[in-house]
Amino acid sequence: MEEENKKAKNNPIENQILVIYGSNGDLAKRKLMPAIFQLYIDNLLPENFAVIGAGSQEKDEETNRKEIKANMKDFVANKVKENPEKLKSFLNHVYYKKVHNQTEEDFAGLKAYIDELSAKLVLPQNIIYYFSIPPFLYEVVAAHMIKFGLNNENNGWKRIIVEKPFGYSYDTAIDLDKKIRTGFNEDQIYRIDHYLGKETVQNIMVTRFSNGFFEPIWNRKYVDRVEITSAEKIGVGSRGGYYDTSGAMRDMIQNHLLQVLAVVAMEPPSIFDSESIRNESVKVLQSLRPIKTDEIAKHVVRGQYIETFVDDVTQKGYRQEKDVKPDSKTETFVALKLFVDNWRWGDVPFYIRTGKHLPDRVTEVVIHLKPAPHQLFKQRCVAQSTNMIILRISPDAGVAVDFGMKIPGAGYKVQNVNMAFHYSDLAENKISEAYERLLLDCMIGDSTLYARADAVKASWKFVDPILKAWKNNPDIPLYFYECNTWGPKEANALFNDKELKWRAPFKKFKTE
Ligand code: BG6
Repeated sequence: MEEENKKAKNNPIENQILVIYGSNGDLAKRKLMPAIFQLYIDNLLPENFAVIGAGSQEKDEETNRKEIKANMKDFVANKVKENPEKLKSFLNHVYYKKVHNQTEEDFAGLKAYIDELSAKLVLPQNIIYYFSIPPFLYEVVAAHMIKFGLNNENNGWKRIIVEKPFGYSYDTAIDLDKKIRTGFNEDQIYRIDHYLGKETVQNIMVTRFSNGFFEPIWNRKYVDRVEITSAEKIGVGSRGGYYDTSGAMRDMIQNHLLQVLAVVAMEPPSIFDSESIRNESVKVLQSLRPIKTDEIAKHVVRGQYIETFVDDVTQKGYRQEKDVKPDSKTETFVALKLFVDNWRWGDVPFYIRTGKHLPDRVTEVVIHLKPAPHQLFKQRCVAQSTNMIILRISPDAGVAVDFGMKIPGAGYKVQNVNMAFHYSDLAENKISEAYERLLLDCMIGDSTLYARADAVKASWKFVDPILKAWKNNPDIPLYFYECNTWGPKEANALFNDKELKWRAPFKKFKTE
């Protein structure tokens, strides 16, 4: 199959089928179907293809098409308005089969349905199965697929896309991997992390590796510290049931933010292909210095938002959210300090922070450079002179560099200025959504932007002791914070230097 995948790469897109388990769920409605529709509008899908929704509800094909049309109108109204004819023809490629994930025979039914459909449409059985289902079902669905030969590649390649979180802990991730691997090879498994599909995360690699001037300073000699922030303005909303078993560490750090860190910190690959890139990024994750159990309270701060009166409205506290336990200790905020123990990054602290109900929705990486070795203008700064490279992932994606400049006029007063490139200035075409990019990559057999098993294991290995310590040691505090603040103030205590604080993201990036 490796050969097959290579072939798919050279021959960009083959006729194929996409099966979505959990097609009536939120992810499928909000993200997957709109992404597939956009690929169709952009003429990126193969000539002959079918999208089969596999969900637990009983319904006929026409009802399914009607529902998809209505969802599209809800979630991507503009696309529908601008492309009414395209939507009509797109819906002709959409099918539905009732599959209850825990009912074994339904997979025999799915197999028969696919056989029939592929014969009718003269479609080869090149198939992607998308696991858009709760994680506890991954193992069951994989087992049922294997039992009925849905993984069999005799009549075309088979790939599965598995959503995060892959496992609940280090042990469960290894166990899940073992079980899936009884019927699928690593090159058939696409572990999706939508952060890697973000144009701006990929741009971190281009910024670093296509320019001569960033790379020489991208190391311990010039970098003082690295900050990664992913903040959200909203709370957990209707996802309390899932979130309360997950928390920010499993939801954001184990996957998205450690993957971003790997892209920021990795060595340049010798060639730009899936294997070389993933080989480099896994080395970063394997180099994360484990945090000792007795140091967890010092290096990791967890928080939970509480009821707050903001802008004339009372925001619910986390414990009052639907499906959340009233005494829940689940963290909605995490800030931590970690080190990448390798030649490039020895002793450079990396600070990562994420949380719900913070003042803005923003994701960015800030490379703080060391100050100039001799401060000639120290007394003459009107603002603190700092050198930073800011990689803004969203919103207002771009790259900015902050540095000191002379204020025009007499003397030598120095002020920090900001040179910013906004990604939107470059994109004549729209910037693709992460799911569009990742689905298309899987369709052509390119796994570069998908997480490999060893990377998933390495990141679990790092976060697992923290989660265990939180669970087993009630003395490790859970700090409460008000909505619309940057989390508990204790997060600032992570910095070695008392003068340092987390950057308040929005202020410096915008240049106007
Ligand atoms: C998801 C998490 O994976 O990523 C959510 O489950 C989070 O809790 C979301 O809100 C953030 O993604 P983005 O692309 O909006 O930054």
